[in-house]
Amino acid sequence: MVDLSELDFKPKPIDRDFLSKPDEYPVNGEHVGHAIRAQGQERLDNEGKPYPTKLGIHGTEVGVDWDCCIADGGCLDVCPTQVYEWALNPGQIGTGNDRKIEKGSEEWNIYRTDKTDMVREKDCIFCMACEVVCPVQAIKITPP
Ligand code: F3S
Ligand code: F3S
Ligand code: ZN
Repeated sequence: MVDLSELDFKPKPIDRDFLSKPDEYPVNGEHVGHAIRAQGQERLDNEGKPYPTKLGIHGTEVGVDWDCCIADGGCLDVCPTQVYEWALNPGQIGTGNDRKIEKGSEEWNIYRTDKTDMVREKDCIFCMACEVVCPVQAIKITPP
């Protein structure tokens, strides 16, 4: 978990309607089998300032706003089907196992913190536990 006071942005909850706004969130990338929307686009944080990152939303049914995610890790702890892995620590799950990023480094410039990645999105059973546990509401689950 990253200390919120050390971040230079204020996480804004994911837009729960992102799937029905293709103009605002076009699919413009792909990552280990899942879609990325709004990658590279300037978006605003919870204070109305541009996010320092332009990572967009990863996943479709299991959607995570990567500009909002602060590597809390709760989602990786609670998922019963291990949908998630740490993006920058592949193969690792769980709170505290995120890659620690040095401030000012190249990775920090791009990511700020590690991010949770739905590498097994198709295994989601829509229990919603991850959506509930995330302290910054970075996750939107959309059952089929
Ligand atoms: Fe796991 Fe979240 Fe789906 S906890 S089963 S990814 S709703
Ligand atoms: Fe990120 Fe929230 Fe999971 S901050 S690591 S999506 S619990
Ligand atoms: Zn991804």
